[in-house]
Amino acid sequence: MDRGYIYVNKKSFVNNLKYLSQVSKKKTCLVVKANAYGHGIEWSVRNAKEIGVEWFAVASIDEGIKVKQAFKDSRVLLLAEPSVSQIDNILKNDLDLTVYSDSFIDALIGTGYKYNVHLKIDTGMHRIGCSPEKFDYFLKKIKDSKLNLAGICTHFPEADTNKEDTQKAIDLFKKTISTIDTDNLLLHVDNSASTFYNLDDSFNMVRVGIAAYGVEISPVESLNKLKPTMEIKTRISNLQHRKKGEAVSYGKAKILDRDSVIATSPIGYGDGYPWNTFPDGKVIVKNQFCKLIGRVTMDQILFDVTGLDVQIDDEVTVLGNSDDGKLNISVSDIANWNKTIEWEILTNMSKRLDRVEIE
Ligand SMILES: Cc1ncc(COP(=O)(O)O)c(C=O)c1O
Repeated sequence: MDRGYIYVNKKSFVNNLKYLSQVSKKKTCLVVKANAYGHGIEWSVRNAKEIGVEWFAVASIDEGIKVKQAFKDSRVLLLAEPSVSQIDNILKNDLDLTVYSDSFIDALIGTGYKYNVHLKIDTGMHRIGCSPEKFDYFLKKIKDSKLNLAGICTHFPEADTNKEDTQKAIDLFKKTISTIDTDNLLLHVDNSASTFYNLDDSFNMVRVGIAAYGVEISPVESLNKLKPTMEIKTRISNLQHRKKGEAVSYGKAKILDRDSVIATSPIGYGDGYPWNTFPDGKVIVKNQFCKLIGRVTMDQILFDVTGLDVQIDDEVTVLGNSDDGKLNISVSDIANWNKTIEWEILTNMSKRLDRVEIE
């Protein structure tokens, strides 16, 4: 090991996907945007396909092309309308499109080609989507054209915190589409959180991201059925003795309150390990938590190993379990130390550290 590895756990990932499909009893559309939440698009798609997942959701055309080039027979859904200038690229790569605006739908119709489209209704997220009042208008426009309506969808703003509000959005969606024939259409509204409680079989696909990667965010817990899919390990690259009253790293942000042994590891915010992990964050060395003792830098972190029997190259767990399995640092821990959300922690993991598959 030089700087460290991001270990991606196939067994846990497959376990999570199987569990999610058991809970939802619907088709799974695995969300693989942002490098598959940091795990690697190719790795995630390959392992999901092995157990029969056919649908993948992405945020950019480039991500969609990556999936299609590696796995031609998969279906890929772009989650928002791209620039009209990219329309050719979409056709060439056979991507399904989420649509909701006059200008974009007109541009698709203008090409005369049969794009697969999923009409998105805004049921309360107020980010993208057509208003429920305009649903009939857009539906007619699509049906009167050569476009192929493959699905109808929405997205919830509070699925992880507010089941009641989410139920209202579900009801609004159902009311909006109640007068149309939905046979042969994909109806997909759920993200990870609502997959655990919206068991309504009017819908036939769920778009799951974070839960597939083992993070518990639903108000309905999986009772430990979801397994973390990512671990990050690095090594001790430097050891130094510092005196009480000294400080280490940029800003000299913490004055040592005792003589200390300080270890350095070659991981930093350039790898996606967030800057705000100091002052609350920890790593694990020799089955003990060690507190960060100075600011996270672009390529290195510093932590207190006073009293531990350590040497250069000893393993450091940044995310995951201690060797004895008694201690753990989770994605949620790192998110809490940084006052942010689990999605941001995973998606920011940069490509500098190699991904290594473990079972
Ligand atoms: C439209 C849409 N659907 C589904 C998801 C997956 O969400 P989650 O990771 O919470 O499962 C996202 C994620 O941002 C999204 O934007």
